[in-house]
Amino acid sequence: MLVTKQPVLRRFWYALMPTAKLAEGPQPFTLLGEPLVLWQKPDGTPVAMRDRCCHRTAKLSKGFISEDGNLACGYHGWEYDCSGACVKIPQNPEGMIPPGAKVETFHCQDRYGYVWVALEDPLRPIPDFPEDGAPGYRRIFQFYEEWKTSPLRVMENSFDNSHFSFVHKANFGLFDQPKPSSYEFRETDYGFEAETLVPIRNPEASYRITGTTAPITNRHLINRYYLPFSRRFGCMYPDSGIHHIIYNCATPIDDGRLMLVQWLYRNDSEAQCPTQELIDWDAAITAEDREILEATEYDACVDTRRRVEFHMPSDKPGIVIRKQLLALLEAHGESEIFMTA
Ligand code: FES
Repeated sequence: MLVTKQPVLRRFWYALMPTAKLAEGPQPFTLLGEPLVLWQKPDGTPVAMRDRCCHRTAKLSKGFISEDGNLACGYHGWEYDCSGACVKIPQNPEGMIPPGAKVETFHCQDRYGYVWVALEDPLRPIPDFPEDGAPGYRRIFQFYEEWKTSPLRVMENSFDNSHFSFVHKANFGLFDQPKPSSYEFRETDYGFEAETLVPIRNPEASYRITGTTAPITNRHLINRYYLPFSRRFGCMYPDSGIHHIIYNCATPIDDGRLMLVQWLYRNDSEAQCPTQELIDWDAAITAEDREILEATEYDACVDTRRRVEFHMPSDKPGIVIRKQLLALLEAHGESEIFMTA
């Protein structure tokens, strides 16, 4: 599936960058092939607009925030308000503005410390993170980084218990136990929930992550898939009662690149496990996923009849994800577009 060729994907929310980044000035971001500029009104509200000045097409992300709190183009200083309307042309002292001089704007919200954008009227709300702000939980921004793969590859990888023994054998994977735990599935209005119990290796470096010194421990996972490209990794360690809940949004930049955003929620304290240790632990694991996913073909087909990839029983979550994406396309009158070369 080439994500930039499937219009229905424009009708979902995606996390783009930390809201705090906008304090540095207008920021560029390409979403589903659309060049955008993100900026912030004086009250902190984020705004998403097409990154193209309607005067001589300069990228507005090269501009600045004016004294009036508008987005000013860096080329000749035309100013735009949050509706995208041109409100000032410094070279026209009489204040004359050509009728229709404006820039397209997009749905934009600040949620969980990130700027979320939908290019067209969203079909679903931003995924709910119930741990955010809940008593006893702390929120940690782990990272956002560009990966050279597709969001479908990331989504199915994140529910794939059968790669732990190989991709993650250097840390928690049990190389000698490659047979994966199976999931119990529950279909939901946002996608699905999948629950399982997974034994993992618990090296000394992870004792404060898991909250236990046992050499092998269990992960009780209640994972969720949010159509089209967000997920929850709901990890609880039964031995210690520690919750290690990760949310990801695999935001499509274009057909072969995405921005992976990762939040972590923990029900322990900084004294029990320092923030930096948690970031470093998950960064190393995610780097292993990234290396192998960037070595796959990014154009995975959601219609598994269209191109041959063989499957095994533990691929079920990925198959369900592909079926749900295919049903989404078909419900909106679209055929899957994929590379034919
Ligand atoms: Fe933007 Fe001229 S190109 S003001």
